[in-house]
Amino acid sequence: MEKLLIKGGFVVDPSQKLEGLADILIEKGKISKIERNIPPSGDEEVIDARSMVVAPAFVDPHAHLRDPGQTYKEDIESGSRAAVFGGFTTVVSMPNTSPTTDNPAIVEYQIQKAQKVGLIRLLPAGTITVGRKGEKLTDFNALKKAGAVALTDDGTTLTDESLLKTALYWASDLGLLVMDHAELPSLSRGHLNEGKVSSLLGLAGRSRSAEAIAVARDGFLAQETDAKIHIQHVSAKESVDLLSLFKEKGVNITSEVNPNHLLLTEEAVLKYGPLAKVNPPLRTKEDRKALIQALAEGIIDCIGTDHAPHASWEKEKPLDQAPPGMLGFQIALPALVKLYNEGLITLKRLVEVLSTTPAKILNLYPELGTLKVGTTADVVIFDLKHEWVFDEKINPSKSSNSPFMGRKLVGKVFYTIKEGKIVYRGKS
Ligand code: DOR
Ligand code: ZN
Repeated sequence: MEKLLIKGGFVVDPSQKLEGLADILIEKGKISKIERNIPPSGDEEVIDARSMVVAPAFVDPHAHLRDPGQTYKEDIESGSRAAVFGGFTTVVSMPNTSPTTDNPAIVEYQIQKAQKVGLIRLLPAGTITVGRKGEKLTDFNALKKAGAVALTDDGTTLTDESLLKTALYWASDLGLLVMDHAELPSLSRGHLNEGKVSSLLGLAGRSRSAEAIAVARDGFLAQETDAKIHIQHVSAKESVDLLSLFKEKGVNITSEVNPNHLLLTEEAVLKYGPLAKVNPPLRTKEDRKALIQALAEGIIDCIGTDHAPHASWEKEKPLDQAPPGMLGFQIALPALVKLYNEGLITLKRLVEVLSTTPAKILNLYPELGTLKVGTTADVVIFDLKHEWVFDEKINPSKSSNSPFMGRKLVGKVFYTIKEGKIVYRGKS
């Protein structure tokens, strides 16, 4: 296999407390050397990484690849291309496919298709309940054997707490991570945050308590069962307070935030309409501030892109009929670069939340989420200063449902490397 030499980059690897100029040699798919100066030997491809950041490739615990069943929105091939465009080599795919990923055959299909495409390591999540109906648990053992790494009914949450408690016991026994879209359906029948903008538009809203109550319930159940639980896409400041409390008590609770929630508030719905519709919804300035601070401080552990492609004809429907969700892979790095440029997070934290910590949560660390010598060579190389326009020409997704379409973004991936192979090369 090829040899790669990454020269002159600014290496950021929180797992080794590394932050400085260094060269990296990759041989046989592994990191074989990191030193201040590694001279080329002539038989390798040399990547000029001067003025760029070199970090462990990004790991996404939350993405919708829509395959099988909704491949007009995205499929495993286009989704893989969008992931590596954003610097991600490892992706947990959500099971709200059609049919749902509630059985081993679909898990196997997804893994095999991703392997054939050959760009990312696709780790499927299976559903917690059959058909995501919230009634009967799936065969966790069979899902795990087929290759599922996590369980979630994403898009909704279980409303039967006793079933959720049993799921936590079983999943924990099998080493499967339960992830929860923590939003009680009874309090989230609307289409945007319940507040100023929903009143203005005369539309039903989704209450902040819908999330906070579910987070509290999940935390107590994790505490009682001693199982791990991962809260998906935290959106409200009350949830942050609860997460902080549970963490203080040593409960095995982790969480992620969607980069769109770090950039936008409910007012975006007035400007972008259905393009800014997402569940849980964009909320207020105060919520956004609390999310950013919690991510910086470690109360929220990592980024989950919640990459959620939808076709234009679907997003052109009125707000109360359009499906929720926005593209995520493409804007994750720019979102964090923006926070970095505003002095709200450090470069080390940027890499931690996109790579090291999600790798840890998914039990992939210390093989992934690190650049330690001897580990799998999944590497991302990006330019913190590069400005680019997120337009149709550059977008690898089948869908373009993002409020950031056509806008200038700062921070661009130039190389994504998986197991020593370059799977994405960016152009300037
Ligand atoms: O906005 C969302 N879109 N939230 C979800 O939970 C599901 C997702 C989707 O599948 O489009
Ligand atoms: Zn969700």
